[in-house]
Amino acid sequence: MRKIAIIGGTGDQGLGLAMRFVQAGLPVCIGSRDETKARMAVDAIKEKFPQASVTGMGNTQAVKDNDIIILSVPYKFMVDTLKGIKEYLTPEKTLVSLCVPLASNVGGRPTQIIQPWEGSAAEQAQGLVPEGVSIVGSFHNVCAARLQDLDNTVDDDVVVCCNDKEKRKEIMELASRVDGMRGIDGGPLCNARIVESITALIIGMNIRYKMPKGIGIRFTYLYDI
Ligand SMILES: NC(=O)c1ccc[n+]([C@@H]2O[C@H](COP(=O)([O-])OP(=O)(O)OC[C@H]3O[C@@H](n4cnc5c(N)ncnc54)[C@H](OP(=O)(O)O)[C@@H]3O)[C@@H](O)[C@H]2O)c1
Repeated sequence: MRKIAIIGGTGDQGLGLAMRFVQAGLPVCIGSRDETKARMAVDAIKEKFPQASVTGMGNTQAVKDNDIIILSVPYKFMVDTLKGIKEYLTPEKTLVSLCVPLASNVGGRPTQIIQPWEGSAAEQAQGLVPEGVSIVGSFHNVCAARLQDLDNTVDDDVVVCCNDKEKRKEIMELASRVDGMRGIDGGPLCNARIVESITALIIGMNIRYKMPKGIGIRFTYLYDI
């Protein structure tokens, strides 16, 4: 597995993913706009996993030093964050977006999404990165509270969408390294439109069924993958 950095790894989802990757024995780098904040996230991880191979640094350095870059910031900050790191993105790196364009980013409801002109947040991100860099859309439907609930196994399928089949496979394998998680081939990046909108559906279901830790998705009858 290549080296992983999580931009916004100080936040709910990023920290949760970092903890699960570390739990799976993978080294992780926490990226932040603020190095002190990154170090605090590192300390939080080390408290749970003293043997963890985890580092914290500014976003730019995190992108430079790592191969799989996971963009875990709210949708409303996605464009600015990408602009700040894009010059360090090269075609060999894999850039994963889990940004969901919830309407709450623009004053609306978290149970609805807005549709960027490009079709999805991931496709919008694809238009902002240098030529040759492939965006992978993934980890949209996994709830941060479940990721951070380390007493329990994650019980989620993770749909992975990317136009580059090798990069899609790389992130499917990464997801499957987490105990209980299964990376599923979601096909080309345009399918991120469907996957991102499922998160809004899930948030509404969490409210209706009163599930504060969130529900997840599983695809049934999909054997031997
Ligand atoms: N939370 C969930 O359950 C969940 C589930 C599925 C998908 N997601 C997606 O995951 C992404 C992150 O969600 P989250 O809940 O982890 O968000 P969050 O905790 O609100 O924020 C994540 C990180 O974004 C960075 N950030 C905050 N304000 C910023 C700004 N003005 N400019 C640039 N960066 C800023 C911060 O990192 P630094 O201050 O360290 O730079 C922060 O720790 C979102 O796109 C969300 O749709 C979340």
